[in-house]
Amino acid sequence: MPELLGSQTYQPQADLGTPLPIQFAEMVTLSIDGREIAVPSGTSVMRAAELANINVPKLCATDSLDAFGSCRMCLVEIKDRKGHPASCTTPAEDGMVVSTRSDKLEMLRRNVLELYLSDHPENCATEHSASECGIRKLADEMGVTESRFGRGGKNHLASEKDCSNPYFTFDPASCIACFRCIRACEDIQGTFALTMAGRGFDSVVSAGQMEPFMDSECVSCGACVESCPTTALEDNSVLEMGVPDAFTITTCAYCGVGCAFRAETKNGEVVRMTPWKDGKANEGHACVKGRFAWEYATHKDRIIKPMIRDSIKDPWREVSWKEAISYAAKRLREIQEKYGPNSIGGITSSRCSNEETYLVQKMVRAAFGNNNVDTCARVCHSPTGYGLKTTLGESAGTQAFESVDHADVIMVIGANPTIAHPVFASRLKRRLREGAKLIVVDPREIELVDGPHVRAQHHLQLLPGANVAFINAMAHVIMTEELQDQAYIDEHCEIPAFEQWREFISMQENSPEALESATGIPAQELTEAARLYAGAGNGAIYYGLGVSEHTQGSTMVMGIANLAMLTGNLGREGVGVSPLRGQNNVQGSCDMGSFPHELPGYRHVSDPAVRELFEKEWGVEIKAEPGLRIPNMFDGAISGHFKGLYCQGEDVAQSDPNTHHVESALKSMECIIVQDIFLNETARFAHVFLPGSSFLEKDGTFTNAERRISPVRKVIEPLAQYADWEVTQLLSNELGYAMNYSHPSEIMDEIARLTPTFSGVSYEKLDQLGSIQWPCNDQAPEGTPTMHVDKMVRGKGYFAITGFIPTDERTTRKYPMLLTTGRILSQYNVGAQTRRTPNSLWADQDLLEIHPFDAEHRGINDGDWVGVASRAGDTVLHAVVTSRVQPGVVYTTFHFPLTGANVVTTENSDWATNCPEYKVTAVECTRVTQPSEWQKEYRAFTEQQEEFLAHARTRTEKV
Ligand code: SF4
Ligand code: SF4
Ligand code: SF4
Ligand code: FES
Repeated sequence: MPELLGSQTYQPQADLGTPLPIQFAEMVTLSIDGREIAVPSGTSVMRAAELANINVPKLCATDSLDAFGSCRMCLVEIKDRKGHPASCTTPAEDGMVVSTRSDKLEMLRRNVLELYLSDHPENCATEHSASECGIRKLADEMGVTESRFGRGGKNHLASEKDCSNPYFTFDPASCIACFRCIRACEDIQGTFALTMAGRGFDSVVSAGQMEPFMDSECVSCGACVESCPTTALEDNSVLEMGVPDAFTITTCAYCGVGCAFRAETKNGEVVRMTPWKDGKANEGHACVKGRFAWEYATHKDRIIKPMIRDSIKDPWREVSWKEAISYAAKRLREIQEKYGPNSIGGITSSRCSNEETYLVQKMVRAAFGNNNVDTCARVCHSPTGYGLKTTLGESAGTQAFESVDHADVIMVIGANPTIAHPVFASRLKRRLREGAKLIVVDPREIELVDGPHVRAQHHLQLLPGANVAFINAMAHVIMTEELQDQAYIDEHCEIPAFEQWREFISMQENSPEALESATGIPAQELTEAARLYAGAGNGAIYYGLGVSEHTQGSTMVMGIANLAMLTGNLGREGVGVSPLRGQNNVQGSCDMGSFPHELPGYRHVSDPAVRELFEKEWGVEIKAEPGLRIPNMFDGAISGHFKGLYCQGEDVAQSDPNTHHVESALKSMECIIVQDIFLNETARFAHVFLPGSSFLEKDGTFTNAERRISPVRKVIEPLAQYADWEVTQLLSNELGYAMNYSHPSEIMDEIARLTPTFSGVSYEKLDQLGSIQWPCNDQAPEGTPTMHVDKMVRGKGYFAITGFIPTDERTTRKYPMLLTTGRILSQYNVGAQTRRTPNSLWADQDLLEIHPFDAEHRGINDGDWVGVASRAGDTVLHAVVTSRVQPGVVYTTFHFPLTGANVVTTENSDWATNCPEYKVTAVECTRVTQPSEWQKEYRAFTEQQEEFLAHARTRTEKV
């Protein structure tokens, strides 16, 4: 796949005009312009022609949508057939003889084209972007310079543009009413925001009810812009900067869907991120974040010079890389001399590449000499790793995204895909429109419960904290009604463990009726949902942080795996257990050995054979005892024995729970080294700031929620001189542990040498295949889309006992409500990237959702300032009164630092992995008139730190 190798000369993506038929009975052979071609039956004549390298003019056809046949540009002649059929809507047949060129066809096409030109602006688009207009292109190709119909008739040329969206413009004057945008919004995105309003000549594409795009249901995914054959819908960046001259294939740095993009550039500057049609995770689709919100990469807030200071009360000093690295290494070594080798540690980044993450954990183990390394998965999907490893034998999801196309019943638990994993959500919604059934398990009414052309058969609106009760009740119904797949269990699972589990789960205390008050789900509805899932031909479970971020997160993951094994829903397409991963490379950061107890490939540090392998390659001794987890590091800092932290691309001060505790831990450390692209919240407590590089500035790989390793390729040079892996290497060398990689591909080669599940992975293979799902080795040289096919990775599946233990976080008279947290579409995680893009036009603050009943009871109205207090702390944010949440439950997001959502969350965590219980906090909400004390302190501290930063810059300018 040569497109992957790096920067390529710009050319539009190939478009075969119509999609490959989903199913076909046979191959048919036809002749087109004298060339013979064999294609699957059901293939259009247009596609067959394109496959034979014969270009047929087209406007309304594209291979990402079913043929529509409206523009009449693609007419052909077929021997022994009357008329001139449209090649996009005519299926190829055996023995067909087709001509795509003739005088008659030329005349017909010219007529159509001239008609279009008579109502098409002469200066459609800007001078920069004119070559993107399909009408102009066809006119040039066909040598049509004038329209015989003139421009004097009734026309749309004076139509007003819709410039409401910050990323694209709709110019009705350039629209040819081909419906491609409307079909894309429906079929690809599944939002149904567009219609063709009016009739005949007055037809006009309309967002919502003839509203500006920004006021409509449009979620700004860009699918319509991508589909438009003219420049009626065009990226503002192209209108401003012009058509790109080069492109590089790379992978989105936002969420765990891992969409592949063409980063399209002009004179070395990014003009547009176009979803790559050959990307297997997204197949040419994207969401507002990856498609449009990339400006942060060159935002003025980027810190591109290293900085140091002795204390967080001092201003920053900009210094050379040499000085910063030597200062950082010196302070780390001093700390170790004073407090011992275990007094320092590192945090890897799930936004950085696999290679970078691998290097950080290697530096901690080899140069720091301990296992004190952890990652943000600690606060999101660590229970997934533990739960799936225990039950199935591998710490990762079982399926490719494509698998959902074959699911009959889909259960979405504690996840909000349309918001957090939008491109996967579009695929899922398409499957639902095709007839698959849906069970949503969520305390909130998420969009999937009742969205456009999608409705859940069951919305099990459970109470926060009741996950395990719910999953046990589901299993109880299936077991006691004997709906299990016993043949599957007998063949694939450990029978003694199953028998014990059967006894446990069949107990009356696990029945839906007994657990009804705990779950809040009517027993009858839960029973019906269990029957639906058990009776599905293919039942698939997708879950998110609503499963893992609980005190019983690991138990719940095991409960989900139990349910899948019980019903035989593993080991083939359409089924499985799929965690929807949060950050772009959180799967990869876990795979790469970021946990304090595991070396790359999830192998325990206590295993001498595994250690020996790494010791031989790395030339150092590796400690056999697991190191500190992030919460242990914080506790150690407060108690005085953990003093130094290297934190790469992770903002613990904002993202970790119980902010008071985190801040006090950070203040207790003697040297915090933050490596990031912005001076993030954690950097306010840092002593060394090492500028990071965005995904556009380096080579590497990310691994998405499907275990898909995808290439990240350098598009622009690092703004601060070095890619993140190079900075880690500099620090390691300064600490005395030599690293001499000249390119990330060498790091991947080392990973492959040491990690059996990666042994077949190389940059060469990634270039050939585009992406690879691990395990990739001798048994699976091209990767593994579906896990546990013939047998479980652990040999036999293990039914773990999943007793329900209610969380200690209960409502009390003082804190009578439950707070749960989540995300919104336009913002991402701690918001460091998206807050620095026009995405903030959709949301510029975190809001508190409260049920009308609770709001009225407390005298709270829409938009009021509400104080939210828990036993950990309190904060203030604006209220949204909505019945999306149930009475007694409030909900917010955590994208804005000033909100301080994590000031309120507590130290409670998962029993097995310490993953915080973000999803359940007992709170009280009251109407207030001013910010909380923490918010006032935050403002003052932040202002002081901003002055310190300004001081560093002014000083450098003077120097
Ligand atoms: S806006 Fe573009 S895609 Fe939509 S109908 Fe008009 S020309 Fe076709
Ligand atoms: S941007 Fe996406 S959601 Fe909005 S109208 Fe276009 S296709 Fe529909
Ligand atoms: S779905 Fe995720 S990976 Fe895809 S474009 Fe959106 S943020 Fe990026
Ligand atoms: S491309 Fe076939 S009718 Fe438009």
